This record gives sequence, C-alpha cells and structure tokens, in this order.
Amino acid sequence: MNTRILNPANNEDIEYAGEMLRSGQLICIPTETVYGLAANALNPEAVAEIYNVKGRPSDNPLIVHISDFEQIYPLVKEVPDKARQLAEKFWPGPLTIILKKSDLIPDKTSGGLDTVAVRFPSHPVARAVITAARTPLAAPSANLSGKPSPTDLEHCVADLNGKIPGIIDGGKCDVGVESTVITLVTEPPRILRPGGITPEMIEEVIGRIEVDPAVTEGLDKDAKVSSPGMKYKHYAPKTELIIADMSLKDYVNLMKNEPDTAALCFEGEEKLFDNASVTFGKEYDGASQAKRLFSALSELDELGLRKAYARRVGKNGVSLAVYNRIIRSSGFRKVFSDVKIIGLTGKSGSGKSYVSGFFRQNGCAVIDCDRITKDSKVYDSGCILELKDAFGPEIINSDGSLNRRKVAEIALSTEEGKKNLQDITFPRIIRRLHELRDKYIDDGYKIIVYDAPTLFESGIDKECCRIAVVTADYELRLKRIMERDGITREQANIRINSQQSDKQFIQKADYVIINNDDSDIDGEIKAIIMELSKNA
Ligand code: TXA
Ligand code: MG
Repeated sequence: MNTRILNPANNEDIEYAGEMLRSGQLICIPTETVYGLAANALNPEAVAEIYNVKGRPSDNPLIVHISDFEQIYPLVKEVPDKARQLAEKFWPGPLTIILKKSDLIPDKTSGGLDTVAVRFPSHPVARAVITAARTPLAAPSANLSGKPSPTDLEHCVADLNGKIPGIIDGGKCDVGVESTVITLVTEPPRILRPGGITPEMIEEVIGRIEVDPAVTEGLDKDAKVSSPGMKYKHYAPKTELIIADMSLKDYVNLMKNEPDTAALCFEGEEKLFDNASVTFGKEYDGASQAKRLFSALSELDELGLRKAYARRVGKNGVSLAVYNRIIRSSGFRKVFSDVKIIGLTGKSGSGKSYVSGFFRQNGCAVIDCDRITKDSKVYDSGCILELKDAFGPEIINSDGSLNRRKVAEIALSTEEGKKNLQDITFPRIIRRLHELRDKYIDDGYKIIVYDAPTLFESGIDKECCRIAVVTADYELRLKRIMERDGITREQANIRINSQQSDKQFIQKADYVIINNDDSDIDGEIKAIIMELSKNA
C-alpha cells in the first residue's frame, strides 16, 4: 500500500483523511500527546485493523476520541458529575476518562469490557480530522506494540509506512507522553496511567483519588500477552536501558568507568563525560522530560550501543508519567552507586540456603525468591485468571482460592507447562522482589543478595553486579536431597540428572562457592563482601 503523507494545512488532505476513516480505513493522526493510529470507533472491522497493524493483543481496549463534549453522551451509560467537572477543567486536553459504555461501543473497541475510555484532544488537527470523519475515532498510540510511542512524523513513518493509506504530518507532539487515564467507574476514582494532567491537578477538581500501584511498579493492568518480556517491558528501545539510581556525581563516575555505554541524561550533563549521549529535558522539569523522552529513546537506538544508563527521575507532577514510562523501558532494571546486588544460585542439594545464611550473618539483606513464589501477594486476581486460562478450572479450589499444589502438578509435568507457568508468574514475582529490594535500600543495606534457583531463567541475573554459584560434590548433593526430602538414592539420582549440569551456571559465575562439609563458607563470604566493599 502507498502511504500518503498528508498536510494538515490543506483542507483536501483533512477531507481525504475523513473520507478514508469513514470508509473503514486507518489514518495516523497527530495529537498533543503522541501520534495516534485512528479508525472509526463504532466500526468493529475498522477497529480490528488497528490491532492487526499494531500487533496489539485484542483484549487491550482503545481510547475513543471526540471533538466536541456533546459527543460523549451516546457513547456512555451516564456522565457523572465528576466527569463533567474534569471535562470542564481539562478538556480539550491530555486526559482520558473511563466510564460505563453504551451499546454503541463495539466489544472490539472496549476490548470486551463494559467500560469505555473517552478523550477530547486539544490538538487542532486531531479535532479537525474527527470532525471531518463525522464519527468518534478509536486511536491507540501509533507505534507497533511494545515499541516507544511516536512523537514526530519520522517515527510514524518508520512504524507504519506501507501499512495504512495516510499519515498526517503534525510536527512534534507537545506533551510527548500519552494522556493521563483515570477511571470514574471505581470509588475513589483511580489513575491507571499518569500523563500530562497530574494527580495533584485532578484532586484539586474532584477530591480524593487513588494512583494504581502498577503506575510505579510491576505489571500494566492491560497487558495480557504470552511472554513476560512483553508484559514487563513496554516502550522498549533496542539498547538495553538501565536506570542509574544515584547522585549526579556518582553517575558521572559510572559513565567514566563504562566508556562503551551510552548516557541518557539531562541537558547540560553530557559535557561531564566523554560517552555517547542523548538528553531528555532538564532535571526537575517533568514537562521538558516528557516532551523529549520517546524521541530520546529512538535517538539512543541510533547510537547503536548495547547498553545505556539513564539518570533517575522523580515521581512528582508530570515526572510521575516520565518515571512510569522509563521504568518500563528499562524492564525495571536499576543500578545504585552504593548498593550492590549479588545473584546467588545453585542446583538442588548444593546447599544454597545454607550459604545465603552466611550472607545474612555478615550483614547483607537476602531476598529468598523461593519464598516469594509462595507469597499470596503474587497470586492476584489477574494472575489466578491467567493460570486458570492456561491450566484449566481444576486449579481453583471450591472457595475460589488457588490450589498451588495442583498448578505445580499440572504445569511442571511438561516443558511447555513450566514455561507457561514462568511466563505468568515471573513478572509478578519480580515485582515483589523489587518492592523488597527498595525496602532494604531504604533500610540502609549496602549489599543485597537475590537468592534464586531460577536466577538466569527469570533474567534477574542482569540486575546483579556479581553472580555467585553454589555447588557441591555429587555424592554429597545426593545425600542432602535424600535426607531433606526423605527419598531413595535412585529418586535423588533422577532428580539431579533431570536438571542441567552445573557447567552452564559456573561459566556465568564471578564466584563459585564449593559447599562441601569441610568448606569454610563463612570465610569465603567475608572475602566476597570485602572485595565488593573495596570496589564501592
Ligand atoms: O494520549 C493518548 O491517550 C494516545 C493518543 C493517541 O490519544 N492514545 C493512547 O492509546 O495512548 P493507547 O491505546 O496506546 O493506550 C490506551 C490505554 C491502554 O493502557 C488501555 O489499556 C487503557 O488506556 N484503556 C483504554 N480503555 C480502557 C478501559 N475501558 N478500561 C481500562 N483501561 C482502558
Ligand atoms: Mg500505547
């Protein structure tokens, strides 16, 4: 398909866009936040094409855009007072309001939900196109699913050229991050996605609201895809991004120590080191950071370096929106200047918990990932639903709770089942891990140990500055497993041999801790801690 670049100053181009949209085609339009990939919101086939082109999971609902307040009435069951107050104050503008939907909204548009997200954009071109189309427009951000949202024409062309009939050139977007999404269906109202309209601004108009915990941590409520990487990593650049949670002074040192990495820093800071760099606004100025963030992520990719360190951003005002996007771009990875994270792993019977005990005794915080997998907080309602979809209704007890024994029994019987289980649970386990990590950092711990049998499979090894692998003589491992689990020698043999050999682990290790009966584990741990403290 030939994609026309449309000029919004030409009336015919706007009319053409309107006609295309009316006839069920897609047009990429500028808005004040990011570019949107628009279709007639009331036409399910047209909307289906949006999912198609973006490669978006079909249960992720779309925002319906209007160009006049009155257009909201047929789309929703009712317009409550709070919606009216918010609209009066912030519309047209970067705020999306979720309400109970009317029958006019097709399931395709609402992702099967009984609610609909409505937004009245302030961008004159967006409004002109909606008016020309004579129908509300469903429009997600115009990126391919999982990539950063486009904030200028080139990004739209890169993702959509040849796939749709037209892209309207609206220059650079003003806000730079997507609209604030608030649901008025819950009481108190809840911000599901932060944006240019801040929680503080909203509270001033309608009183108390909540900010969904997923804004600063963990899963996007909407993301339901099969791979945890996708679920966890939104707005992901190709360059591996890590947030450097430290002072500017420490950041400068970090960059100097790692000359082959790129810096994603604030304006003016790039002069302080020789690394390749991209800036995203000014420190303490959320609006300027938001405006630059997505372009900066593309520019980072153009540098072609494997890894980049980003400056930390605050969580106040518009910065909350920037924090929310950048933390996802990084897959929640952070490094700290004065906090070291050690990954500790080892096979069954190696005595990993025995070793982690010595880390604890020597003043380190230890996060026991096995224990997190048993933590009921991990199994939220979304998790239980996904597990039920994957493994069948028999994993739910008659009282509605989860039968974890049953899950393990079904899931662990095949390789595919194991992978499915990990895809569903890892992101949630990692969210809890990060909560614990942040708590220990607040408590002043300088060394944190991730004690994790699946350190590598879950990808959290990448957060660690050192990897320690515990191993022991084969005979000894056999004996330990037999004693611990009360099984025969033969069964213990099968168990050990069903796991991969130590070799791959050991290749990736900075320290190999041999945990035989005569080993001086305490001495070894003390030496590791000493070495790490020297490198502080
Ligand atoms: O600024 C914006 O909002 C841009 C421009 C193009 O208007 N659009 C945008 O759309 O960001 P999209 O589809 O990329 O993000 C919409 C977000 C998703 O996180 C979606 O899950 C959520 O809004 N959403 C939409 N309808 C919802 C509903 N009924 N309930 C809960 N969340 C909803
Ligand atoms: Mg999007």
